[in-house]
Formats: sequence, C-alpha cells, structure tokens
Amino acid sequence: MSDLGKKLKRISKRRHKMIVTEGVFSPWGEFAPLPEIVELAKKYNAVLMVDDAHGVGAVGETGGGAVEHFKLRGEVDIVMGSFDKALGGMGGFLASSKKLAEHLRVAARPNILSSALSGVLAGGLIESIKICRSEEGAKLRSQLSANADYLRKSFNNLGFKIVGNGEVPVTPVFIGEEAKSIKLAEKLLEYGIYSPSFRWPAVPKGESRIRVTPMATHKKEHLDALLQAFSRVKEEFKL
Ligand SMILES: Cc1ncc(COP(=O)(O)O)c(C=O)c1O
Repeated sequence: MSDLGKKLKRISKRRHKMIVTEGVFSPWGEFAPLPEIVELAKKYNAVLMVDDAHGVGAVGETGGGAVEHFKLRGEVDIVMGSFDKALGGMGGFLASSKKLAEHLRVAARPNILSSALSGVLAGGLIESIKICRSEEGAKLRSQLSANADYLRKSFNNLGFKIVGNGEVPVTPVFIGEEAKSIKLAEKLLEYGIYSPSFRWPAVPKGESRIRVTPMATHKKEHLDALLQAFSRVKEEFKL
C-alpha cells in the first residue's frame, strides 16, 4: 500500500490517474485491502477499478463481492466481474456510473466488436443473480465458506501449506517448483482430480501452487476424495 501511495504522489495532479486492482487475489487467497485503496483513490483523485472475478457471488452479504464485503458500495468507480465463476454462466460485466457506461458502450472495442451474450445465457444469469440475493444464496455462501474451512484445515493436517489468510473460498495449495507442480497436477488427474498447476508468470517463479476452490454443493465425500488424492501424491512426491 505504501508503494501505491508513493506512486500516486509522484504523478502530477493535472494527470488522470487510475488504480486497477482485483477484489479477491485468487493465487494469494486474500482480499485486496479495498478500504485503504479507496482512501488513496480519494486522496489522489484517481479512478478506481476493481476486477472482482473471484468475489462476485461468492462473498458479500448478498453475493455482491468484495466491494459489498467491505461495505464500499458507491465508492468504486468501475467494478468488473466474471459470469463464469460463482454465477455459472459465461462472459462478464462491467458496472459503472451511467455516464461512463454510455461512453463505454460506444468506445469500448470488446463491446462494439464482439457478439453479445446469448439470450439463453443471459436468462440463466438473471436467475443466478436472483439466487445469489436470496436466502438460498446466503445459505450457499455459508456452505461454501464451511467447505473452504474444512479443506484448509484438512490440507494443513496433511502437512500442505495453504496460501492466504482464509478469508476467501479460494484455497491455493503451495507446491513451489514449476516442474514439480506440473507433474503433481498430472498425477492428480490420474487419481480423478482435475486441478492444473498455477505457475509463473501468474505467480513469482518457484512459487507454483494448485489453486483449489470448493463449490457450495460439494459434499464431505467429494472433498475427502480430493484430499485423499493430495495425500497420495504427497507420499509419492515426498513433499
Ligand atoms: C481476476 C480475474 N479476472 C478475470 C478473469 C477472467 O475471467 P473469465 O473466465 O470470465 O474470462 C480471471 C480468471 O480467473 C481472474 O482471475
């Protein structure tokens, strides 16, 4: 945060500034410190954009993502999110003030030069959003959080290192060396678990991980099958 503050301070007051951050840093298993970032954006008059691909639907009181989690509705200029994670569809969205949205409708190339979302997907997504905001959505999020807690605890008991502070459902299992994590992921697939290696350049060199995210609807037996496969590869790879 101090680095961001220093960078913003260095830029002339007359220049336009924009801060772009993720809401949930999935390889790190943590929220971005959004309250502090919002303060800096205000202080230095910077436009703030939050990519909340991993937060929307999964966190926040009504599934509104990291911005809702931190009670910052109305404080972020642009929120973008993915439709293919918690919402179970495809595509994504960008939410902003009406004025900016009107500008982007004609100025954003991905908007004017690509096909629109299909009606079938849009219909499904509207239903997903309704579920997210309903009591059922709250129950699903609480189940999701319980599943992630169970995984984290069990991975720790097996001797794996989990990256992050446990505040978000993404559960990155630290492996380290790239070659090892690729081989490990291949072995997991042999045991019926498809979870590719997440490695450089998405994370620093030598810090590969297997990024695991449970679903709310996973039962204990599903999670145990995953843990059993990890336990087998741990022994085989002498981790
Ligand atoms: C922060 C972030 N933004 C955007 C995306 C891309 O989302 P989509 O799969 O909808 O293209 C991802 C994918 O994991 C992501 O982690």
